[in-house]
Amino acid sequence: MIDGKKVLYSGMQATGNLTLGNYLGALKNWVTLSDEYECFYGVVDMHSITVRQDPAELRKRARNLLTLYIAAGLDPKKNCIYYQSHVSGHAELAWILNCYTYMGELNRMTQFKDKSAKHADNINAGLFTYPVLMASDILLYQADVVPVGIDQRQHLELTRDVAERFNSIYGDVFTVPEAYYGKAGAKIMSLQNPEKKMSKSDENPNASIYLMDDPDTIMRKFKRAVTDSEACICYRDEQPGVRNLLDIYCACTGKTPDEAVAEFEGKGYGDLKVAVGESVVSVLKPLQDRYAELSKDKAYIDSVIKENAEKANYYAMKTLRKVQKKVGFPEKVR
Ligand code: TRP
Repeated sequence: MIDGKKVLYSGMQATGNLTLGNYLGALKNWVTLSDEYECFYGVVDMHSITVRQDPAELRKRARNLLTLYIAAGLDPKKNCIYYQSHVSGHAELAWILNCYTYMGELNRMTQFKDKSAKHADNINAGLFTYPVLMASDILLYQADVVPVGIDQRQHLELTRDVAERFNSIYGDVFTVPEAYYGKAGAKIMSLQNPEKKMSKSDENPNASIYLMDDPDTIMRKFKRAVTDSEACICYRDEQPGVRNLLDIYCACTGKTPDEAVAEFEGKGYGDLKVAVGESVVSVLKPLQDRYAELSKDKAYIDSVIKENAEKANYYAMKTLRKVQKKVGFPEKVR
């Protein structure tokens, strides 16, 4: 608890360009949470180097992501928006928690298996202990809730197990976090393969709408979106492509699927695609304008980075000191 509010932690990696799926599924909802929770949102650049990165590119992307958090509507006075690498407590706690996590547990992580298959030439120890760093992010701020997608649930379970293990040895040190379900964000699927999640790492650029895509590109991608030969604008499992378009439309307009289906009665897929494309353009345009404006204001972004790193460090150090004491590290001599 901070000032009577529950603590919420989440983070994104600055690798790849954020997609409409990241926005509608996560970022947009984060904005609504800051009244109810004390929120910490990391740009988790330390996680990113588990896969080889170009340094200049990583630095640029990290700043862009932080700017995008603000452009999406997260007020940096209310939400702690910061770079993970600016708070050394993450690495320090991660080391300690590595010593309370079993090889067997990490071996079961499906993301590790997937990523090591994908990066067979660089299966490094960081990739293996990635979930421990993530646990440290969460536990460092004593988070009560963590909004994460389904792909991160296993990591969150591990976080809970490690926290409980630590607490059972040393007393109540960590808050054991819960997954945040809340008003579930829309799950947006690939435009080219609606059985698959829209992903920033998809090799096919037509599969994803990127947040910085211009209106023409957006309209073109929707026109090419995969549908089916049913010729029916219905919201059902048998028509995943059409359903995905309707989901996107509803997320952008606030309509319900029933309302959307009624609206398109008697119309064709072409009409649907145009309407969805336009609804996306009207959601992304203000975000892009705000982003362009913010990107020019170097001093402002710098001040956000500085102030929020200080705030994050303050809370991180509180937990870290407690943990260091519990495990038996000697107190510093002042
Ligand atoms: N591992 C998460 C992802 O790739 C990002 C992340 C890092 C995170 N630390 C976190 C998410 C803590 C929630 C809480 O999506």
